[in-house]
Amino acid sequence: MKNILVTGGAGFIGSNFVRYMLHVHPEVNVVVYDKLTYAGRLENLQDVAEQFAGRYAFAQGDICDAQAVEAALREHEIDTIVNFAAESHVDRSIMNPDAFIQTDVYGTYVLLEAARKFGNLRYHQISTDEVYGHIHGDHRSLETDNLAPRSPYAASKASADHLVNAYHITYELPITITRGANNIGPYQYPEKVVPLFVTNALNDLPLPVYGDGQQMRDYQYVIDHCKGIDLVLREGEIGETYNVGTGEEMTNMQMVEILLDELGKPRTLIQHVEDRMGHDRRYCMNVQKLMDLGWEADYTHEEAIRETVRWYVNNPWWWEPIRSGEFKEFYQRLYGERKVIG
Ligand code: NAD
Ligand code: DAU
Repeated sequence: MKNILVTGGAGFIGSNFVRYMLHVHPEVNVVVYDKLTYAGRLENLQDVAEQFAGRYAFAQGDICDAQAVEAALREHEIDTIVNFAAESHVDRSIMNPDAFIQTDVYGTYVLLEAARKFGNLRYHQISTDEVYGHIHGDHRSLETDNLAPRSPYAASKASADHLVNAYHITYELPITITRGANNIGPYQYPEKVVPLFVTNALNDLPLPVYGDGQQMRDYQYVIDHCKGIDLVLREGEIGETYNVGTGEEMTNMQMVEILLDELGKPRTLIQHVEDRMGHDRRYCMNVQKLMDLGWEADYTHEEAIRETVRWYVNNPWWWEPIRSGEFKEFYQRLYGERKVIG
């Protein structure tokens, strides 16, 4: 692993991963390949571009464009592909699934074909706990569980996982997959619940909690996720999938209360609104397989939420311009007419 192509590296988790890898592995060079959709931002990598000028490069491109992908692989003598590139927001997938099928499914296929064509490059797929669907009772999803996705986003990610596994079985492509939980931390586009709620609260706007807010999520600090991906890249068994989460869960209401407490803002900002269609009630994964490789989380949920809140408080330069751009129209479309239920 010397020259890594990080697709989707200008997004939230991708940019944190790039920063982490360049700091921790001095022998590694990173090329970010990113289309720069609304979610991809060069500001996320500004410090990286300055600090690691000799070991970092950026190429703008679409993972659905086979010629451009192959040109990047050739030019930078890539030996490893880590695919973060995706449409990633569940609500947008409900409003308009098309881009999700294009990027998350077809784009993954293009990358797999390119990896095969270049002599079976090492390939790592970033997947999600959403592929398991919502979990009943006190079960924690295992890597061997059947996939049961329930939103267009989750279905597109599950399709990609099947393709990645198929390329391993059929063509012996050296693949691994990690399935992450709900990540939070710096540079997350403020459409996702934690940065949305922090930035709304900082503007004294209501926090739109879907339904009763008793849905369970595993809010994981993004650096813990990056550490897990790095470990699997180096020590993971080829052909295998690894869950990456804290293995713990909390309700959305608990998350909101910690967030408001850290901000010193009143609970009266909470507004229950009409639920998300097909909303998954609970995700929670068993992460023993990753722990057996030597991984453990550095952050509890509460620490992850408080740390994230502080980053947004201290970095309005990053999110204020976003909230006044494309985001405004998206917010109006998703929340403008939404029924308030409490
Ligand atoms: P994000 O939306 O912040 O970033 C996605 C990035 O992909 C952006 O930089 C965007 O420009 C780029 N991109 C989109 N379409 C592209 C295309 N066709 N070609 C090239 N680049 C393209 O997403 P994120 O939250 O950082 O998620 C990254 C990955 O991790 C995704 O695969 C997502 O499914 C997965 N994941 C996310 C979470 C989470 O909590 N956010 C949890 C588990 C897994
Ligand atoms: O679980 C991993 C997944 O986490 C990733 O694969 C996705 O890319 C990522 O977007 C995230 O999906 P979620 O749908 O769980 O995240 P989101 O931040 O959109 O919502 C988290 C919870 O908060 C969920 O139960 C819905 C709820 N919610 C969300 C929003 C945006 C609200 O109550 N109100 C909101 O306005």
